[in-house]
Amino acid sequence: MNHLLSIEELDRGAIERVVAQAARFAEVSDREIKKVPTLRGRMVLNLFYEASTRTRSSFELAAKRLSADVVNFAASGSSVEKGESLKDTVLTLCAHKPDAIVLRTPWAGSAALVSRWCTAAIVNAGDGKHEHPTQALLDVYTLIQRLGALDGAHIWIVGDVAHSRVARSNILAFQRMGATVTVAGPPTLIPREISALGCEVRFTLEQLGEADVIYALRLQSERMTEPWLPSLREYAAHYQINRRRLHPRQLVMHPGPVNRGVELSGEVVDSPQALVAAQVEAGVVVRMAVLYELLSGTHAPLRAAPEPQLA
Ligand code: NCD
Repeated sequence: MNHLLSIEELDRGAIERVVAQAARFAEVSDREIKKVPTLRGRMVLNLFYEASTRTRSSFELAAKRLSADVVNFAASGSSVEKGESLKDTVLTLCAHKPDAIVLRTPWAGSAALVSRWCTAAIVNAGDGKHEHPTQALLDVYTLIQRLGALDGAHIWIVGDVAHSRVARSNILAFQRMGATVTVAGPPTLIPREISALGCEVRFTLEQLGEADVIYALRLQSERMTEPWLPSLREYAAHYQINRRRLHPRQLVMHPGPVNRGVELSGEVVDSPQALVAAQVEAGVVVRMAVLYELLSGTHAPLRAAPEPQLA
């Protein structure tokens, strides 16, 4: 069985296939009865060790629209609080024979680890600072709906790149779809090695005008082990996307949750240039497409075939 662990392992063709399937599922979401029998009798287990509003609800909705059974497991309130390890928790829950496990944890690499412990398809819904592949796929889908294609688009990712799994997945996905990516933020929040992913790095927003799309990130204080910034006010003064910095032709995205008045001003969040609500809506159809690709069993693997090696 196949898994979705990272964007790194998807080529452009695999991303396009998910996007095309999501577009077909968008029609289901417009029906009065928003359900198809595709995954009847299959079981999806949502296993969340970290807080989530959008990701968890949209995976649940996606599985239900495909008629799968869904079991939601949150670490708080479970035997995890009594000290049960990730491995023992996974092995226990695998006794219920889930077909897919949607996993979110604070530990980078945990989705890959879990994929070795059981036979279910593992979907990485965020593993620490590492990756959040379905967020990147829904963001690509949202932009394709809006722009037609990403080829040649300039996308600026602004904010706390250092603690962001979304940044990593989105840099890879946007580039694979033909966009040019620039990351910008305070030097303490831009990791040195990020340019190895092929993106430009800026420490000011002086050239923000070249962006077609501005993708703002939350300051992820839950992952900050030391004070990375003098103050939120100072951060907002230099890096907030507000009316003054935003050109009317630019689009604004954010994975949520938004801290209004910090990375985005309230009026920008509420403006028609912001695609935040469209991103949440895309989350359901894109996650339907991912579950369908992994579980319906009639497709080529989602994971890109390895490049042929020269002898
Ligand atoms: C993001 C996450 O949890 O990685 N949110 C999300 O899934 N929509 C980003 C964040 O928490 O800032």
